[in-house]
Amino acid sequence: MKKALFINGSPRKKGNTATLLREAMRGAQEAGCEVEMVDLYDRGLNYKGCMSCFACKIKGGRKGVCSFRDDLQPILEKAVEADVLVCGSPIYCSYPSAGLRAFMERLVFPAVNYSDYSRPVVNKHKCSATIYTMNCPNEQVYRANAYDVVMDISAKQLAMFGPTEILYSFDTYQFNDYSRYDAARFDEAHKAMVRDSQFPKDLEKAYSLGKRLASQCQSDD
Ligand SMILES: Cc1cc2nc3c(=O)[nH]c(=O)nc-3n(C[C@H](O)[C@H](O)[C@H](O)COP(=O)(O)O)c2cc1C
Repeated sequence: MKKALFINGSPRKKGNTATLLREAMRGAQEAGCEVEMVDLYDRGLNYKGCMSCFACKIKGGRKGVCSFRDDLQPILEKAVEADVLVCGSPIYCSYPSAGLRAFMERLVFPAVNYSDYSRPVVNKHKCSATIYTMNCPNEQVYRANAYDVVMDISAKQLAMFGPTEILYSFDTYQFNDYSRYDAARFDEAHKAMVRDSQFPKDLEKAYSLGKRLASQCQSDD
């Protein structure tokens, strides 16, 4: 059975990112995948980014997967073996969340072939995607703010493993109750309107994405 792994790079297990990831997961499951979601900010999960141990580059050593032993290592094993991988993150200060960036360092660096950049060390080809959620209102502002420079480049690193895509969810609803926060920059009525009209469409896109990736990927089994 094909395996699909979903990585939530938001600390909020019921936030915008996790909700979209769950829809993508539902799509992949309906298309016949065995699915699993990992919350990177789970309190029981202690890990850091790449520790620069170079175990993944050592001559005769195990290649293509980070072997630094901590709570992330078994998750990286699953990510490397997955047929479908979907990462999700909010934009945090113009970057993917620190949790997802650390995960990406540990996933991507072992695949970088220091002897030949054109031939990454890929144990299993996979279809992948990244889901980004943000306050940013639309794609034009996304590009004007140069978010694409960092966010898209980070997401496109997954292209090492096979075809990859990006799904954006703009202008997300951030607080349960806007009246409790100093956030005059945001109009709650507008945010609620986007949540009720646009976000359901983003959920449909996420569902289709999960289904599409699951159908496109080729399992070795
Ligand atoms: C620390 C922090 C930094 C943020 N920085 C940005 C930013 O640079 N650009 C942006 O559009 N939204 C930014 N946001 C808003 C979040 O990206 C947005 O609310 C997102 O949908 C939250 O995802 P979640 O509901 O999955 O937690 C920031 C939020 C936080 C908490």
